[in-house]
Amino acid sequence: MSERIRVAVVFGGRSSEHAISCISAGSVLRALDRERYDVVPIGVTPDGRWVLEADEPDRLAITDGTLPRVDARGTSIVLAADPTRPDLEVHEANQVPESLGTVDVVFPVLHGPFGEDGTIQGLLEMAGVPYVGSGVLASAVAMDKGAMKTVFAQAGLEQSPYVVVTDRDWRRRREQVLEQVATLGLPVFVKPARAGSSLGITKVKAAADLADAIEEARRHDPRVVVEASVEAAREIECGVLVDADGEPRASVCAEIVVTGDHEFYDFEAKYLDDAADLVVPADLDPAVSERVRDLAVRAFEALGCEGLARCDFFVAPDGRVLVNEVNTMPGFTSISMFPRVWAESGVDYPELVDRLVVDALRRGTGLR
Ligand SMILES: Nc1ncnc2c1ncn2[C@@H]1O[C@H](COP(=O)(O)OP(=O)(O)O)[C@@H](O)[C@H]1O
Ligand SMILES: [Mg+2]
Repeated sequence: MSERIRVAVVFGGRSSEHAISCISAGSVLRALDRERYDVVPIGVTPDGRWVLEADEPDRLAITDGTLPRVDARGTSIVLAADPTRPDLEVHEANQVPESLGTVDVVFPVLHGPFGEDGTIQGLLEMAGVPYVGSGVLASAVAMDKGAMKTVFAQAGLEQSPYVVVTDRDWRRRREQVLEQVATLGLPVFVKPARAGSSLGITKVKAAADLADAIEEARRHDPRVVVEASVEAAREIECGVLVDADGEPRASVCAEIVVTGDHEFYDFEAKYLDDAADLVVPADLDPAVSERVRDLAVRAFEALGCEGLARCDFFVAPDGRVLVNEVNTMPGFTSISMFPRVWAESGVDYPELVDRLVVDALRRGTGLR
């Protein structure tokens, strides 16, 4: 039998999506075939410490209404940003560092800043360890809604009109900013540039509420994006996964139908209230569905994504398809949208995880 591939699954992390990452990692750990893979679960605590975790997927679930988190009592470990020291090392106070050997590939199941934004990707590039998903640039650009929109605009992908409000703009020329935002009309969505899970997002219907909404977004990120609302839009998402030759392929489309009294797909609708139905596949006109799938691959390529991404769109009542955002490490629990659209497209969860690991090994690190 050939040697097993050693995969480090890194999860948790410093962003507000710590718990979601833990749940995703539980599903990944459960799916990795132990005949083929030697698995090293690595947790990152909310304050950023790397610890060796137990290989117990069941612990990484919501139990009795409590969200999972990384067990900070684990042994501290370090991966040096140095390709000549490829070993994972145990670092405990007053002890000689002990080697845990090398890993062949890292699966960073991390969402949000310090994970999905190019930072851990940069560390892994420095260390020379291949990893699942997009590289530094695509991860960083897709994390920043302002930068992402610039790339989409350049690539000719239609999106809702928007204004980026930097920290300096807001502090030094607030009146001009508000004038510029007024050209978008109402309602608008006000968003932190680099957040996720709808945190800090407000739908604003009256000009008098704009400044407060910008301040609210600024509690999450000093850079803010304001964009025109696509009213009565359908929210359609599409998974992109690269095939064995590295070609990006689109999944079937899915629709998010927000129910109850949620005005949009906000944090509560996403995680708490059970107030959103994921319809897979989406009930779409075949021509619209093809258009979304084509745009998903174009958005993926425009950003230079690798491995996987979930591409999110609005389909306006007049039939226009507008790109909203691309997530380079989408929710990855077995019931999340990305695995579901792939299951519907004939790729089940274990195969999905497998394909991502193989793709990471195929690509390797460095300029490519
Ligand atoms: N321009 C828009 N028009 C209509 N709805 C929007 C718009 N922007 C955001 N939304 C709503 O807000 C939700 C969250 O916005 P999004 O940009 O996807 O942020 P996040 O990265 O937090 O998911 C969307 O899923 C959608 O329901
Ligand atoms: Mg979104």
